Amino acid sequence: MKQSFTILLFILLLTNCKKQPEIGLITEKAIVVSARKEASKIGADILKKGGNAFDAMVATELALAVAFPYAGNIGGGGFMVYRKNNGEIGALDYREKAPLAATKDMYLDSLGNVIPDKSTLGAMAVGIPGTVAGVFATHQKFGTLPMKEIIQPVIDLAKKGVVVTQKQEKRLIKHTPGFRKANSKKILLDNNWKKGDTIKYISLAETLTRIQQNGRDEFYKGETAKTLAKFMQENGGIITEEDLATYEAKWRTPIVFTYDDLKIISMSPPSSGGICLAQIMNAIEPYDLAAYGHNSTKSIQVITEAERRAYADRSHFLGDPDFVNIPKETLISKTYSSSRMESFSFDKATSSNTISHGSITFSESNETTHYSIVDQFGNAVSVTTTINAAFGSKLYCSELGFFLNNEMDDFSSKPGTPNMFGLVGAEANKIEPKKRMLSSMTPTIIEKNGNLFMVVGTPGGSTIITSVLQTILNVHEYNMGMQEAVNQPRFHHQWLPDDIKMEPNGFSENIKNELKALGYILDETNSPVIGKVDAILVLPDGRLEAGADHRGDDTAVGF
Ligand code: GLY
Repeated sequence: MKQSFTILLFILLLTNCKKQPEIGLITEKAIVVSARKEASKIGADILKKGGNAFDAMVATELALAVAFPYAGNIGGGGFMVYRKNNGEIGALDYREKAPLAATKDMYLDSLGNVIPDKSTLGAMAVGIPGTVAGVFATHQKFGTLPMKEIIQPVIDLAKKGVVVTQKQEKRLIKHTPGFRKANSKKILLDNNWKKGDTIKYISLAETLTRIQQNGRDEFYKGETAKTLAKFMQENGGIITEEDLATYEAKWRTPIVFTYDDLKIISMSPPSSGGICLAQIMNAIEPYDLAAYGHNSTKSIQVITEAERRAYADRSHFLGDPDFVNIPKETLISKTYSSSRMESFSFDKATSSNTISHGSITFSESNETTHYSIVDQFGNAVSVTTTINAAFGSKLYCSELGFFLNNEMDDFSSKPGTPNMFGLVGAEANKIEPKKRMLSSMTPTIIEKNGNLFMVVGTPGGSTIITSVLQTILNVHEYNMGMQEAVNQPRFHHQWLPDDIKMEPNGFSENIKNELKALGYILDETNSPVIGKVDAILVLPDGRLEAGADHRGDDTAVGF
């Protein structure tokens, strides 16, 4: 009797000690969740003033350029997927473009080899920035508050300054050598910033003030354009005033597909995000992931094999739709995905060599940034924006106050040779003047039973698609809340290299041993972090729950 009481007590203690899942910010009406509290707050304040999700998009995007120069930008580009409260959906492409003087072989030496750093560091790596065109296009179509009113708090933040966090200090130290290599003149880092310091962005405040006064054309045709073109040429780049003057953001039709009772709306080319996500989700839909268990060997196997096949297709078929014909309907059809899975068996890992060939080194990175917004009217926007690598090309225009992207590296410099994400490209993504480079950004919105259900996205280069996928599955298959779904350890496979990246300490030894026995190669060293997901879930009672990723300084603000 005494013994069974002790056992019962032990079980009760164990049950009580089991960590309760974390719940994210819950609000009645609206949430903005982004990589920095300052940006989320500026976006949420715009909503409080009566602005809608599109006004908040403009404010949050520009505020990230101030608060998160690591990836937030006006020297880069991005993608937005939206769903209005009446169910209307759409997408905006404000991706960078190759300059007019760009050529297919611009990153190759006379022997046809890729010249190290040329597509990643300094002025030659820069694509024509699209962010300012993107925010003005959004505002022109859907904005309700005056642009001047939306931009003012961002200018105020730039003047007041932003406090350096622990993570930011680390990033600044890590990238100092790159800054010094890329910049001929003053760099953002001249002051050796430490945690707790406040960085003021006075030149950026001046640039934003001119944009506030003169509108979109200030960046593309005005004084800012002239300064930028001159700066690019002084630093050995090829972007001209004509490149800037002819840049346009483009409205696109999003990729739409179903998974069980979910309708998934995601980004179309020139991002590979929506098509790849559709291929993976179509391939895994017939399998009973819920029964296999979360992050179990069988679930990891099915997801990995679907990812392997989708990424092999990505490399071959996808590029800028204004330049290449993409067999979109076939790629996102359920019959195509199930035919791709015919060669899969639970008994043994498929070798990527049997899907294609090659063995390629991979360096993980976690740049880019994502924010999700739901407003008090029920409109939703999902935006992923980037300067590509951490601090982009590391080239900082001190006169204008921002970093320039290194998005040209997202082209395939040489078909068959991997870019900085280890992604292997083909002819479809070769460099051509005025072409947009292929992306992995996957801003996504999900409907359930015809209603808004989730807004989700993440940075993470090639791992973006698979991080978005796992977050959706965590909610849909494993009944997790939004923050709980974001917190889970993640893994990633991208066809080449043929290994599963895993976040360290996130997976049991037992599962890792089982996967190895089946022939999978595991890599826990290159990816301390996979994705930084910022998402919003509509709860059954209509309230909203945010998932703000603790892998970064990400924060949700709402009301
Ligand atoms: N620059 C990362 C991406 O567009 O996927």
